[in-house]
Amino acid sequence: MPATIIMGGQWGDEGKGKLTDALAGRAKMVVRANGGANAGHTVQTERGTFKMHLVPSGILNPDCECVIGAGVVLDPVSLLTELDGLRGQGIGADRLRISARAHVVLPYHAAFDRAQEDRLEGSKIGTTLRGIGPAYSDKAARLGLRVADLIDPGVVATRLRQLIDLKNRQLELLYDAPTLDADAIIETYREAGERLRTYVCETEPLVYDALSQGQQVLVECAQGAMLDIDYGTYPFVTSSSPSAAGACQGAGIAPRFVERVIAVFKAYSTRVGSGPFPTELHDETGQLIRERGREYGTTTGRPRRTGWFDAVAARHVVRLNGVTEITMTLLDVLDALEEIHVCTNYTSDGETLDLIPANTERLSRVSPQYERRSGWMSDITRARSSADLPERALEYVRFVEGLVGAPISMVGVGPARDQLVSLSADAAINAVAAA
Ligand code: GDP
Ligand code: IMO
Ligand code: MG
Repeated sequence: MPATIIMGGQWGDEGKGKLTDALAGRAKMVVRANGGANAGHTVQTERGTFKMHLVPSGILNPDCECVIGAGVVLDPVSLLTELDGLRGQGIGADRLRISARAHVVLPYHAAFDRAQEDRLEGSKIGTTLRGIGPAYSDKAARLGLRVADLIDPGVVATRLRQLIDLKNRQLELLYDAPTLDADAIIETYREAGERLRTYVCETEPLVYDALSQGQQVLVECAQGAMLDIDYGTYPFVTSSSPSAAGACQGAGIAPRFVERVIAVFKAYSTRVGSGPFPTELHDETGQLIRERGREYGTTTGRPRRTGWFDAVAARHVVRLNGVTEITMTLLDVLDALEEIHVCTNYTSDGETLDLIPANTERLSRVSPQYERRSGWMSDITRARSSADLPERALEYVRFVEGLVGAPISMVGVGPARDQLVSLSADAAINAVAAA
């Protein structure tokens, strides 16, 4: 029962969408496991550049079935806009299925997201303001609306009115914020439910059937493991579990069906929003990386913070998630650097740390310790096999691999579908293809 998890190893935007698309050509199904429209997954094919927020990146492969799993928080209006956009680019979505168990993001979630951020003067999380935290909070508080409810007009009318009344009172009393028009929301969501109805089903048996027939199922996570609600840099995290365990939970796949856990890491680090980032660069090298990597957010357009590869954070992620292999993306961005630094451990209060401290305040004060590597100073974007890569680029990859404790089986040398180099016969790109 071969399930392959594709998860972000850092703070998001590692290139999960690109890898999912590359593997989806040979898979039966791609299941999106977590997050919502806070995600932005860019995929570049010969048909153009696609920016996915809720739709699994497998949709660009005509034979791949796509599922939005129960772990996702789904903004129906945003999904309809995304589907219209895809249709405009010539991509139909009749292969999309949405779990009836997924939760619905409502307009008051965005209102709470903004109101909470506004009150966190000096310690804002820097969320995407898509209502993600409030939607997951309501889910846990059992105050959510699920997709199964959304497509039932009777339930939408009654439960949604009750929820909006409650949320309006909270908005007024807690935040002195404007209240929302219940009738308008109910009408919009009733219509959205109507339009989405054809995609909704019990997706879990579909996923199980594919796995039990031995077909390849990819699980596409959103965000990255350092944004995990439990093991990330809390409170500067998202509100879901973008982890291997979270992937199983969100996709409805039992852990024993998982064959591979692929963590995607950039060859350096980026982060959007606030929170500790020990290897952050505030100099020209950071700016060079930002420009070469086009490090501006897919969802919000915000410039991403940039820094060196952090092997302490990567080890933390590899261990907690049982990572079986790594895809290192954006290696080409480092083509222009004479010297590349890698953080091997931290020092903090006179101590050497080789793990991520739970105390986020302490993490924000650690000093990264670096090892330096010579750059290769040549263009690798045309490399298609390891033999095409300069020795120093391979040395860099092997050096990082040794520090993090999992094999780097593929590297990205550009944004296009074919700019992915396999470094080993066992790499997912070969094994998934062969299955
Ligand atoms: P995701 O959220 O993990 O899917 O990643 P994003 O799409 O938000 O950000 C990754 C960006 O890097 C996108 O613009 C991709 O097109 C681009 N990208 C992915 N892999 C590579 C690569 O190997 N080299 C370069 N130069 N760009 C890449
Ligand atoms: P993909 O799937 C990068 C970050 C936000 C913020 C924090 C909390 O494209 O990798 P939220 O809106 O989730 O409550 O924001 O998490 N964040 C991401 N950063 N890539 C993402 O998704 C992200 N999704 C959320 O910037 O710091
Ligand atoms: Mg992204």
